[in-house]
Amino acid sequence: MKILTLETTCDETAAAVVTDELAVLSSVVASQDELHRRYAGVVPEIAARAHVERILPTIDEALRRANVTLEQLDAVAVANTPGLAGSLLVGLVAAKTLCAALGKPLVAINHLHAHIYACRMAAGREVFPCLGLIVSGGHTSLYHCRGPIEFEYLGGTIDDAAGEAFDKVAAMLGLPYPGGPAVSRAAETGNPRAYDFPRGLAGDKQRLDFSFSGLKTAVRYAIAGPGKPNASAKSLTPQQVADLAASFQAAVVDSLVTKSLAALERTALTRLCVGGGVAANRLLRERLAQAAKQRGFELLIAPPELCTDNAVMGAIAFERLKAGRTESLDLDVVPGLVRH
Ligand code: KG4
Ligand code: ZN
Repeated sequence: MKILTLETTCDETAAAVVTDELAVLSSVVASQDELHRRYAGVVPEIAARAHVERILPTIDEALRRANVTLEQLDAVAVANTPGLAGSLLVGLVAAKTLCAALGKPLVAINHLHAHIYACRMAAGREVFPCLGLIVSGGHTSLYHCRGPIEFEYLGGTIDDAAGEAFDKVAAMLGLPYPGGPAVSRAAETGNPRAYDFPRGLAGDKQRLDFSFSGLKTAVRYAIAGPGKPNASAKSLTPQQVADLAASFQAAVVDSLVTKSLAALERTALTRLCVGGGVAANRLLRERLAQAAKQRGFELLIAPPELCTDNAVMGAIAFERLKAGRTESLDLDVVPGLVRH
């Protein structure tokens, strides 16, 4: 069996062809980073328009590389939740149109569950049950993943997502978009102890939630400094930028590691799967690997290209297909987070 998977939840237009044996026949990702860079963040209207322009060439390219025709597909799958409403609609309309024209089943993908499934794709073997940590531009949450279609929400950010904080802090430091890679590069020559930034909700051990907005404000005040409320990145030396980046990154990573360890303890799970763009972060990967060694849990993180948005992780659709969970053509987008 072969399916075409589509991903247009945010600012990446992606399509892949995958088999039920989880072989990836093709994967195409058209990034919009260039379009959003001058705004230092994703502009929803621009993202939706760019998806409209790119979705058909992206699908064509995925089919061409896989050497598969539309008629040879067994189903079409699309991420319909969560994400930006306008962006989600483009993928959904494309998928529904193909299903209507070809008479093929439509399968819905939960984008966050798919981020965890990226670990399954990378590992090439079963990864459930596991604790799932999703750290992306729009989401930071912990799930008890009992099986590929059985996710229980344990906690998440009460304000900004970790990736969003990376993007905003990068803008404050005069670093380019997307902020995660830029901040992490700048942090390499910085001192992570130069600034004592807050670890949001760290004191509340019972709560598996995150908070990054206070950290963002703390960075803003550290840049301004006492008596310099209007100071900007321009007044910082390269070493100060590096120190701020390193101290900020250390605070985010500390929060993510601490809460993940608390969740492992609470659930008694022995495997942690991490997905989403921020899972590409080197310090986070190192710190989790250290913790896994010390505490004896299994750690699975996909390679960076499967951490950021892609359509390969949409292979989770096979799990729903196998369970008989297909959708009618009145399927809608659900932009907000559904906690399961
Ligand atoms: O999963 P993703 O591609 O899109 C969403 O679903 O949001 O995640 C994008 C986010 C951006 O905020 C980006 O700055 C962040 O992931 N990111 C990183 C790194 N690479 C990407 N954050 C920290 N370190 C990185 N190396
Ligand atoms: Zn994502």
